[in-house]
Amino acid sequence: MSGLLIDIRQVTKSYFSGSVETQVLFGVDLAVPRGDFLAVMGQSGSGKSTLMNILGCLDQATGGSYFLNGVDTLTLSRNELANIRNRTIGFVFQSFNLIKRMSVAENVALPLIYAGVSRARAHAKALLELERVGLKDMAKRTPNQLSGGQQQRVAIARALVGDPPLILADEPTGNLDTQTSVEIMRSFQQLNEERGITILLVTHEPDIAAYSKRLVRLKDGRVLYDGPAAEGLHQMNATTV
Ligand SMILES: Nc1ncnc2c1ncn2[C@@H]1O[C@H](COP(=O)(O)OP(=O)(O)OP(=O)(O)O)[C@@H](O)[C@H]1O
Ligand SMILES: [Mg+2]
Repeated sequence: MSGLLIDIRQVTKSYFSGSVETQVLFGVDLAVPRGDFLAVMGQSGSGKSTLMNILGCLDQATGGSYFLNGVDTLTLSRNELANIRNRTIGFVFQSFNLIKRMSVAENVALPLIYAGVSRARAHAKALLELERVGLKDMAKRTPNQLSGGQQQRVAIARALVGDPPLILADEPTGNLDTQTSVEIMRSFQQLNEERGITILLVTHEPDIAAYSKRLVRLKDGRVLYDGPAAEGLHQMNATTV
């Protein structure tokens, strides 16, 4: 076993509409060790969400290989895939995806309830995760009684409630103002540094990507850059001016 949390090699992805094939990813390699903090950037349509969906086992590659935590995902049944996804990955979305009629605590506890954990234990763990993101006092509120940044922190607590080693986030600050985006990125930084959580996020904004350690830039379904974030962002500046 390689010790990598994510190991994809020569991944291709095509969408088919009838007999018409549209290829979106053209042989992407990505190796992510535990503890990494990686931002994916690239123009609209470059394949960022497609790649994230494959990494999140929400969609399957057309070609290539994907080992998640040492497991060859292409050999798994749908059930096995769902299992490894639930154990390994916490998802954070641009639109928070919280359930409006449930309390904040119930939202955070939900993945554990689905996993068969008792209500009492799930609730206790939810409160612990809410405390860790500084929102314990909001546990009884509903999501619409919270600010956007608070809602996203609730979503982060929900992503972490099952103790996954990895968080995948597709434009987690896309619906937030600059100040709040910075707060969310600091939360991710803290999770990465203090709890060793591996984080992969998609962003359009260089200022947001600057909080990560590593940057991957996609262009037309290929990796254009993969390296230290500071250097990659510097190169971007140099080429766009
Ligand atoms: N389900 C689908 N069926 C057909 N084509 C798709 C599908 N999903 C995405 N595509 C196409 O694949 C390409 C890449 O889309 P993707 O959503 O991965 O881009 P993206 O980099 O996330 O863009 P954005 O920054 O706008 O979110 C686009 O040309 C898109 O139209
Ligand atoms: Mg996208």
